[in-house]
Amino acid sequence: MIPTQAPFPALRFRRLRATAALRALAQENVLGCGDLIWPLFVRDGRSIREPVASMPGVERLSIDNIVKVAEEAASLGIPAICLFPYTDPALKTEACEEAWNPENLANRAIRAIKAAVPELAVMTDIALDPYNANGHDGLVRDGVILNDETIEALVRMALAQAEAGADILGPSDMMDGRIGALRGALEAAGHKNVAILSYAAKYASAFYGPFRDAVGASGALKGDKKTYQMNPGNSDEALRLVARDLSEGADMVMVKPGMPYLDICRRVKDAFGAPTYAYQVSGEYAMIRGAADRGWVDGDKVMMESLLAFKRAGCDGILTYFAPQAARILRAQ
Ligand code: PBG
Repeated sequence: MIPTQAPFPALRFRRLRATAALRALAQENVLGCGDLIWPLFVRDGRSIREPVASMPGVERLSIDNIVKVAEEAASLGIPAICLFPYTDPALKTEACEEAWNPENLANRAIRAIKAAVPELAVMTDIALDPYNANGHDGLVRDGVILNDETIEALVRMALAQAEAGADILGPSDMMDGRIGALRGALEAAGHKNVAILSYAAKYASAFYGPFRDAVGASGALKGDKKTYQMNPGNSDEALRLVARDLSEGADMVMVKPGMPYLDICRRVKDAFGAPTYAYQVSGEYAMIRGAADRGWVDGDKVMMESLLAFKRAGCDGILTYFAPQAARILRAQ
């Protein structure tokens, strides 16, 4: 309800916009370094920083370099990073066994980062796509993505990540029933404080294109992900998914992509009041960077405005490839 307001000229909205001091006092939403989760791509090898063509400024890093970047994240006041492995195609199989190998790339990276920067929260991705010969998030039989069989694989994957020291597990697979299965398995294994940030409302989006290049899944992916990711035309369904995942033991929930789905962020926050995050995905990053690199928009300003929009939409934090640039600007203010 908008309270009763005085008529003009008693009320002049421009009074509180007249100086920077008054604008600061009247500002409703703020972005801080503590709101940022920095997604990083890890690959095998040593001393490697390999640019991702469709994401200028983003690189695949070998473990030695990702540890340095993790130290940088902590020194910038970024509370968490999120790891995505670029897996050697030779390790991709139909059964995805590499996903729960305790010595796989992701798990080795988790251990190295936690050893060097224990205060930094490490989030992981739970989905089979980096390890799947056909690029899907779930096991596939006769062209069908299997739900229940996939959950068993995800549980193994999650336990291996928790063993390696992951602080936050991010199931991004969109199988039904996985949050309950993961939470039960974590409790049974004694991992009582491992948090689950559920990709609860994840849409079947074309904005993931550059990410699939970054993790090397574009070539492998057969078909699309529409039988498990959400229909972009739906909104009520997002609330039902969030309700389901919270009831199964998710600690935090995510809306993904971000900017095209700010309405969903707001509905989720209003309906549940749970810790709510948005993923400003690879295609959103690429659009802003692409336009900025051509001088069509002011890159820093558009970046900061895009991130503030998530706070205004009710998010508690944002996964964004802009995390280090944004943190540097916030620290200089
Ligand atoms: C897959 C996964 C995807 C992203 C995060 N985890 C892509 C997909 O669902 O195909 C996308 C992130 C981005 O685009 O930045 N498990």
